[in-house]
Amino acid sequence: MRVLDRLMMSAALAVASAGAASAAEVEVLHWWTSGGEAAALNVLKQDLEGQGITWRDMPVAGGGGEAAMTALRARVTAGDAPTAVQVLGFDLLDWTEQGDVLANLDEVATAGNWNAVIPAALQRFSKPGDHWVAAPVNVHSTNWVWANKAVLDELGISQPTNWDEFIAALQKAKDAGKVALAHGGQPWQEATIFDSAVLASGGPEFYQKSMIDLDPEALGSEQMVAAFDKMEQLRGFVDDNFSGRDWNLASAMVINGEAAFQIMGDWAKGEFLNAGKVPGTDFLCFRVPGTEGTVTFNSDQFMMFRQDDPEATKAQMAMAAAIESPEFQVAFNTVKGSVPARTDVPDTEFDDCGKKGMADLKAASEAGTLLGSMGHGHANPAAVKNAMYDVITAHFNGEYDSQQAAEELVNAVEGAQ
Ligand code: BGC
Repeated sequence: MRVLDRLMMSAALAVASAGAASAAEVEVLHWWTSGGEAAALNVLKQDLEGQGITWRDMPVAGGGGEAAMTALRARVTAGDAPTAVQVLGFDLLDWTEQGDVLANLDEVATAGNWNAVIPAALQRFSKPGDHWVAAPVNVHSTNWVWANKAVLDELGISQPTNWDEFIAALQKAKDAGKVALAHGGQPWQEATIFDSAVLASGGPEFYQKSMIDLDPEALGSEQMVAAFDKMEQLRGFVDDNFSGRDWNLASAMVINGEAAFQIMGDWAKGEFLNAGKVPGTDFLCFRVPGTEGTVTFNSDQFMMFRQDDPEATKAQMAMAAAIESPEFQVAFNTVKGSVPARTDVPDTEFDDCGKKGMADLKAASEAGTLLGSMGHGHANPAAVKNAMYDVITAHFNGEYDSQQAAEELVNAVEGAQ
């Protein structure tokens, strides 16, 4: 957040916490606007409506949530904060620093045993100080590939197991006249891919040093040049119309067989499921070759703004409690493509991709290779993330070569801090 934004915000915060919601109603700001996302959102909506709570929808399209965060700032500045807001990692920390505007969810958290069952990697954001201020809905991760199985079978492509095999598979699909890599040219989508390019080039320690610790040496290193080289390789496999395309339209290209692969977070699975596709039969999910053993995660959390009306607070607390109920965690995450935010939810109801997602998360957490996604606000503050986005996208569009991009990354990160 820029200094000016911060000043304007603090001026508005005094009135913001009054909130807009009235009795037994929640107003929810979110960016779940694709088919799969809307289906998952409905699970939450219906759960609350079953409890007599009215849902006032405030959707702001745009994956990664940048547009939603801009809309949120405008609402808060106008003294009209929504009840609950979908938010990612470091944005939550930014809001926590804005003073006493967020609700205190401690009572609900104690009743639901959140301290024991929500992993520390998420609590860091939902309970940044002594109090719970947000309810994590899920855990997503970004280092996934989604593939059309019929296309792969038809072209005799088997699941690649390392980066070179992946490139060879993409080449084979391209040679056969398919769109090899379905991609939408939007900065957050390029950043999503970049999570994996960094991992595949330097492994988890390098990712930690560069994306999380923001070590200038790592940011400007040969390994970073190699990460940009990988982006350049991938750039060679997207179609001519990639610019500006929404991520779910890129998923649709894999779903309908126009394209072979997409690198995207597991919200893409929501699109496949929504189209009636079955994992293992119609589509494959696997970790980006060269990143296995590491999980770059992000968690959607509903951050709650303090309400003055006790009835509105009651509705808000009911929403927080509903989100963390184990039954809801299963019902929602099996549709969304994510995995539960609680560690005590069995994987029985999840499909094979979901089961793998849960197993990978547990293994990575134990191995110390569960790392926050840079692309999705879990590695570094928004100002740094946005500065990285700019360099990554400029390079993807040919403005810098890989060497220049690594140098620009060092400068951009320094300037943003
Ligand atoms: C969110 C997902 C969402 C995706 C695309 C990510 O930042 O965590 O829940 O589906 O953006 O909109």
